[in-house]
Amino acid sequence: MTYQIALSFEDGVTRFVTANRNETVADAAYKSRINIPFDCRDGACGTCKAFCESGKYDGGDYIDEALTEDEAEKGFCLPCQMVPETDLVLQIAGTSEMAKAGATTFEGTVSELNWFADNTAALTLTLANRADLKYLPGQYMNFAVPGTDAARSYSFSSGPAAAELRFLIRTAPDGAMTTYLKERAAVGDTIPLTGPMGSFFLRDIKRPVLMLAGGTGIAPLLSMLENIAANVDEAPAHPVHLVYGVTFDKDLVELEKLEHYADAIENFTFTTCVADPDSAAKNKGYVTQYITPAQLNDGDVDVYLCGPPAMVDAVRKYWDTQGITPTNFYYERFAVGSTAAAAPALSGAVA
Ligand code: FES
Repeated sequence: MTYQIALSFEDGVTRFVTANRNETVADAAYKSRINIPFDCRDGACGTCKAFCESGKYDGGDYIDEALTEDEAEKGFCLPCQMVPETDLVLQIAGTSEMAKAGATTFEGTVSELNWFADNTAALTLTLANRADLKYLPGQYMNFAVPGTDAARSYSFSSGPAAAELRFLIRTAPDGAMTTYLKERAAVGDTIPLTGPMGSFFLRDIKRPVLMLAGGTGIAPLLSMLENIAANVDEAPAHPVHLVYGVTFDKDLVELEKLEHYADAIENFTFTTCVADPDSAAKNKGYVTQYITPAQLNDGDVDVYLCGPPAMVDAVRKYWDTQGITPTNFYYERFAVGSTAAAAPALSGAVA
């Protein structure tokens, strides 16, 4: 029996290590030559203190000075002592550079390029060494745009178990990736990808989940839904609802996938809305207009939002008007303007 441990560093890089049964996280990291911070290695100093985002473990032996009861209850842990009982996701206090664990570069090969209308591309890549790329649902990769010096970031829309990697890419006028995709891209092209990156990923579902997507911000949420659907036997019985908003009718993409997830995941429902007043859609307006009090569950809800900065701000203000603070609010703002529009610019988590 082995467990996968995702080590998520402060600079957004995530590295995975494999722990054998009864092996501490520290030993598993050491085997993989990842130097997470340690001192005593004995549960006495607290230097290695990390935060467990998801999974179960035996915390091991340590003294109160290293980790208080209160901290342990909140999810803090000591990698030098803890032994995984399931796969884990840990936030490590330090950068990947410090841990000599920089992100890895992979060579993606274009296997499919499809267009939704003229402004959103679905790009599918294969990797010769696919098994070497592990990622969490919601994370992203940095792309080196072929034939240019430009780099762009795109969230996976595929789940972590998918054989091929899928990305949704919104075009931008004169954007480097847009020009490549529209004018030069061909099946068989290779694209260097570095990652995985980002702290916007699905945590254990311990309460109702509300997902909010703006435009191609749907991509990481599709990855999360694919992961939930793939592990539906283990999923706790909490409702998961998605509100997906776009500007124009043509921007609504991947609705068949969402219908499929609504069938495959018992507690999953979704609503779409279109801001354009001339839209033919039944629901016109913005995402916040289609959130119901039941979905907010008096604030006992984990919210995952991916959209442009204005949407993040609007949702924050919305919490104020409703007088609630979600138990967890995870968000990713993506860059707009001349850079590709599905490029995650900033991730955040407000607990
Ligand atoms: Fe000292 Fe882990 S290294 S408590």
